[in-house]
Amino acid sequence: MFERTPDISDVLERFDEGSEVVIRGWIHRVFKVGGKVFAWVRDHSGFIQVVFDKSGLSTEWESVERLSRESSVEVKGSVRVDERAPGGKEIIATELVVYGYSPPFPIKGGEDVEYLLNVRHLWLRSRQMIALLKIKHTVIQALKDWLLKDGWWETTPPILTGSAVEGGATLFEVKYFDKAAYLSQSAQLYLEVLIFPLNRVWALTPSFRAEKSRTRRHLSEYWHLEVEAAWYDIDDMMGVAEGLVSHAVAKTIEERSNELKLLNRDVTKLESALHPPYPRVTYDEALEILARKGFSIKWGEDYGADEEKALTEEFDKPFFVTHFPKRIKAFYMKEDPKRPEVVLGFDLLAPEGYGEVIGGSQREDDYEKLYNRVLMEGLDPKDYEWYLDLRKYGSVPHSGFGLGIERLVMWIAGIEHIRDAVPFPRWRERIYP
Ligand code: 4AD
Ligand code: MG
Repeated sequence: MFERTPDISDVLERFDEGSEVVIRGWIHRVFKVGGKVFAWVRDHSGFIQVVFDKSGLSTEWESVERLSRESSVEVKGSVRVDERAPGGKEIIATELVVYGYSPPFPIKGGEDVEYLLNVRHLWLRSRQMIALLKIKHTVIQALKDWLLKDGWWETTPPILTGSAVEGGATLFEVKYFDKAAYLSQSAQLYLEVLIFPLNRVWALTPSFRAEKSRTRRHLSEYWHLEVEAAWYDIDDMMGVAEGLVSHAVAKTIEERSNELKLLNRDVTKLESALHPPYPRVTYDEALEILARKGFSIKWGEDYGADEEKALTEEFDKPFFVTHFPKRIKAFYMKEDPKRPEVVLGFDLLAPEGYGEVIGGSQREDDYEKLYNRVLMEGLDPKDYEWYLDLRKYGSVPHSGFGLGIERLVMWIAGIEHIRDAVPFPRWRERIYP
């Protein structure tokens, strides 16, 4: 059994000069000066300098000389306060146990993106990736905290599904015994079922999209936080989006300031997101803004990534676009009773060019209308019988949305590409490791 040892951050923060400590971690860097060996040791919490000196060491010197980057070690020693050491403290080693030596590490610095993707399993030990893994943890934790505090039920919808939610074009088909099944694009339809027993529900699940083109914000597999609630209209739901996003930003700024700094994130650009309400523009207004910026989109057409980016330049905080033409949105969105050519749908876009982070709507709760929408989309009502049933047995006004975790992390962390918001990115040409 391994006895628990303190985290390196604990040693830096809580252990005084002369304390005896044992730490475990990996060698990040090692160099020899005079007769001494200095090693920078990493664990999940941070880095500390360890000094090996023949005279004070009970372990044979050969093990110290064989140390190289990524060797895994346990070091016993005493804490010394030294202003020149990174973190202000170092450990003077008295004992070394090496668990695993390491041949020359394939990452030396300066490698290009493709190379690093091919050694992703090792690149995840980098300071940048550690920072991103931690930021994602905090973002997810904050989102969950907000929902739990507000009384929402966590649920576990399936990943293997029988039908599409977001259209056939991005559907992954899998062999399911002797039939076809699909990987979930969204848990929405199942969450709609679950509001009848539980009123207000959420789930965090992987979602899959067979995106044909490679972009800086599309993955084939991503983490999807979805919420659904009875007796919530579109405005109520936009309020939930504001609550979640502002809380996630606040928590990340509060708890991950070192990581944001390491990534050179300009945190002042996030501060406006702390203060909802977020601006709301309709699709029609968005087209007017775009027209002024030289984009001519005809009413009824969807806007693409370039237009979305241009829109985000008009706002310095997240903002909503609402009331889209029916024909560019999914079949389940409720039509606006005042304007049947548009739906009560919304997207939340992040500023600084990041764009869509959330997509949601009030749901069509009228049986006939939904049935016709299913037909109009060319879908088979047989496949959606159970979904249509929800409008038969005690239908209720309800709304929900889906938030792309990696999209949110990407914006909060200020990174260029969505691949680094997930440890093992998947897109069309790539499923390694
Ligand atoms: O806008 P989308 O397609 O909406 C839905 O799936 C709804 N059924 C959700 C719901 O109402 N419960 O996807 C929701 C969010 C997007 O706003 C985006 O953040 C993210 O999922 N997303 C992706 N993230 C990474 N890679 C992709 N290929 C993504 N596609 C969507
Ligand atoms: Mg969308």
